[in-house]
Amino acid sequence: MRMYDIINKKKRGRHLSEEEIRFMVNGYTNGEIPDYQVSALMMAVCFQGMDAEETLHLTLAMRDSGEVLDLSAIEGIKVDKHSTGGVGDKTSLVLTPMAAALGIPVAKMSGRGLGHTGGTIDKLACFPGFSTALSKEQFYGNVNRIKMAIMGQTANLAPADKKLYALRDVTATVDQLSLIAASIMSKKLAANADAIVLDVKTGNGAFMKTEEDAFALAREMVQIGVDAGKQMSAVITDMDQPLGNAVGNSLEVKEAILSLNGLGPKDFMEVVYALGTEMVLAAGRAETPGQAKELLEQTIQTGTALDKFAEFVEAQGGDKRFVYQPELLPVGNIQLQAMNTEDGIVSRILAEEIGLATLALGGGRLTKESEIDLSVGILLHKKRGDMVRAGDTLATIYANDMEKAKEAYGKIVRAYEIGPDPAGEVPMVKGIIRNGRMVQ
Ligand code: URA
Repeated sequence: MRMYDIINKKKRGRHLSEEEIRFMVNGYTNGEIPDYQVSALMMAVCFQGMDAEETLHLTLAMRDSGEVLDLSAIEGIKVDKHSTGGVGDKTSLVLTPMAAALGIPVAKMSGRGLGHTGGTIDKLACFPGFSTALSKEQFYGNVNRIKMAIMGQTANLAPADKKLYALRDVTATVDQLSLIAASIMSKKLAANADAIVLDVKTGNGAFMKTEEDAFALAREMVQIGVDAGKQMSAVITDMDQPLGNAVGNSLEVKEAILSLNGLGPKDFMEVVYALGTEMVLAAGRAETPGQAKELLEQTIQTGTALDKFAEFVEAQGGDKRFVYQPELLPVGNIQLQAMNTEDGIVSRILAEEIGLATLALGGGRLTKESEIDLSVGILLHKKRGDMVRAGDTLATIYANDMEKAKEAYGKIVRAYEIGPDPAGEVPMVKGIIRNGRMVQ
């Protein structure tokens, strides 16, 4: 088999066989096939696309390039949740303890933030002593004992994807739906839960800017998972403004704790309940979405989700006092109010700009090696649909450097789109695909 022939075949729009795809993935991972040939193939895929069978074979070949976790030591139906990335997305911090409080085992591998989107691993670093570098035995043991554990992605999880993603990133071949679907699902399948719930974000702060693309990506990922024998749900959710009010690591952790105390922002909780409902149904703990939501609500009302979160923080070496006294979490020394200059109604908040403002404060990562300041961020006081007057505070900036705070100020003011008309209610959940069927 020759890589030249595989590239040529795809260039002409022909179907690649499983053997050809595995030859490429394995040869590239072990260094036998050079970057330039794989770049050419990736570009051919961008122009010619891949069908469902090719996408599945690519996903499985990437999954098999490294370790596939064996979760059989964990009892029950294991559920995983993944977000395609957003601004202010602290969903996992709230949802995971809610599910665990219902006895649903959640064995989750999470990533760090990059660019304008945040990562769960960074948020958890706000708890002094907290570690996501768990051994597999600790990981499995914690899930069995307290029903939840979150660990950092191991180096040997889908290494082919790591290499391919880095190549796509510099060859303008990231934004091809089948390649994105295969990339995300290869890691999820390697993490190997029985049921996977996907939060596919759409809007200006998301990877998928249009609903059409978000639905297409969701359908591809659900199909891959179903074909690989998993229970799958995808919830397509709004990212045309940041999720909730807090953006930035420690501010987001505080908001997550508020939410576990029953004081979560409405838009955020809507997404939490939609995803949670899918997790509860997948775990077989409820017959209907209504029952699932009721069970989830009880975990907040009775405080069991909050206590579960504290138990989890402690089990991974963190100081659980911070869960019950979130005022202990660090916030930036400088607090600057971003002021509004015109009367009207907030029609949109460009989430990407708010993410970039947080990045400018030092709260995000420009490169994989960047150090981040966990204490900086932005608290939004006005959201879509709110009436505003000139002189109102739009947001509070938490910073440790006045120059950076001023840079963030400009971005925040630009992010707010204020118009004369009521924005109307924008649904947070655009649709749900459950095991291949559109259910909402
Ligand atoms: N996230 C991934 O993990 N892979 C992609 O290709 C795009 C987003």
